[in-house]
Amino acid sequence: MTLVPGSGGRSINALEWTGDTLLLLNQRVLPLRESVTRITDSSGVAHAIKTMVVRGAPAIGVAAAFGLVMAVQNANRKRLPWREEFRKAAEELRSTRPTAVNLFWAIERMRKEVMRLPDEPEGAAYHLEREAMAIRDEDVAANRRMGAHGAKLLKSGSVITHCNAGALATAGYGTALGVIRAAVAAGKKIHVFVGETRPFLQGARLTAWELVKDGIPCTLITDSMAAVIFQAGKVQAAIVGADRIAANGDVANKIGTYGLAVLCRVHRVPFYVAAPVCTIDPAVRTGKAIPIEERDGREVTHFLGTRIAPDGIPVYNPAFDVTPAKYVTAIVTERGVLRPPFPAAIRKLVR
Ligand code: MRU
Repeated sequence: MTLVPGSGGRSINALEWTGDTLLLLNQRVLPLRESVTRITDSSGVAHAIKTMVVRGAPAIGVAAAFGLVMAVQNANRKRLPWREEFRKAAEELRSTRPTAVNLFWAIERMRKEVMRLPDEPEGAAYHLEREAMAIRDEDVAANRRMGAHGAKLLKSGSVITHCNAGALATAGYGTALGVIRAAVAAGKKIHVFVGETRPFLQGARLTAWELVKDGIPCTLITDSMAAVIFQAGKVQAAIVGADRIAANGDVANKIGTYGLAVLCRVHRVPFYVAAPVCTIDPAVRTGKAIPIEERDGREVTHFLGTRIAPDGIPVYNPAFDVTPAKYVTAIVTERGVLRPPFPAAIRKLVR
C-alpha cells in the first residue's frame, strides 16, 4: 500500500483502487495519524464522503465513481439486478454533499456509461471500472496541465491559499497546490501562507502537511490573521480551488474564500482560482443558485471532541461561500487560463 510514500507530497494519494476495494487516506485524522480506511461497498463510500474521510471536490467525485463500481460488483456477487443496485447507490452518493459539482458530474458520467452497456453483469462491472479509472487518471492529467498554465501567473514571492486544494483533494497533484508545485518546479522562489481554515482545519492539517512533505517554504496563519499580512504587503497573490463555478464565473469554495478575495481587491493583489473544467456548472447561472452545505454545529462548538463553547449556543456552520466573479482575476483550467468577462470565456470553453 503506497498512499503515503516517503518520496514527498508529489506522490501523495488520497485514494487507491485495488480492483475490489477503495483505500482512503483518512483525512479526518491527518496529520496526527496516517491511517488508511478500507471500503468495500458504495454505502461505505457515501459515509466516507459525508464524514470527510475523503474530501475535496475532485476526490469525492472519483471516490463516488469507485463506489458505483463496487455497487455493481457486489450486486453480481449476490446475484442482484445490477442496474437497480447502481441506481440505489447513485442516489445515496448524490445525497452526501451538495456543493461540489464534481460529485454529481462523476455520477452522471458513470450513469451515461451504464446506459450504453448491455445487460451482461460481468461486462458491466468491467466497463464501469474502466470508466472510474479514466475519471481518476484524467483528473491527475488535468491537474498537471493546470499546473503548467497556472505556474506562469505566479511570480517569486508569497502566495496565500485557503483550505486544501492539493493532492489530498484530488486524484493527485492538486489544483491550487498543483499550480504552486508547478511554479516551484519551474524554479520560482515561492513561499506559501496557509490559512488554517476553521472549523475543519483543512489548511492547518492537510495543506500544511502536503507543503511540509514537499519541502515548499510555508507559514501557517489563523484565518483572522490574513488581513494583517495583506496590510503589511506580504502577499503577492492568492490561489484557491473551487467546488462549483457558475456560468457567470461566481466561485463556490471553502468558507472564508470570499473574505480572502475581498482582501485581495482592497490590497490590489491578484486572486486566482484553479479548477478543472468539470467544476464549471453551466446549468447554474450565478452563484446564488449554488447549494451551500451546512454542517453539524459541533464542528464549531467542539475542538478534537472537547466542547469549547457553551452548551445550547446556536451555531451557523456553512461549509462554503460564493466569491462573486468580479473579485476573480483569472480561473486556471486544464484548457487554459480564463480571464474576465467570464460568462463569454466559460461559454466558449463548455459549449
Ligand atoms: O469541505 P471540503 O474540505 O471538501 O472543501 C474543499 C474545498 O473547498 C476545496 O478548496 C475544493 O474542493 C477544491 S479541491 C481541489
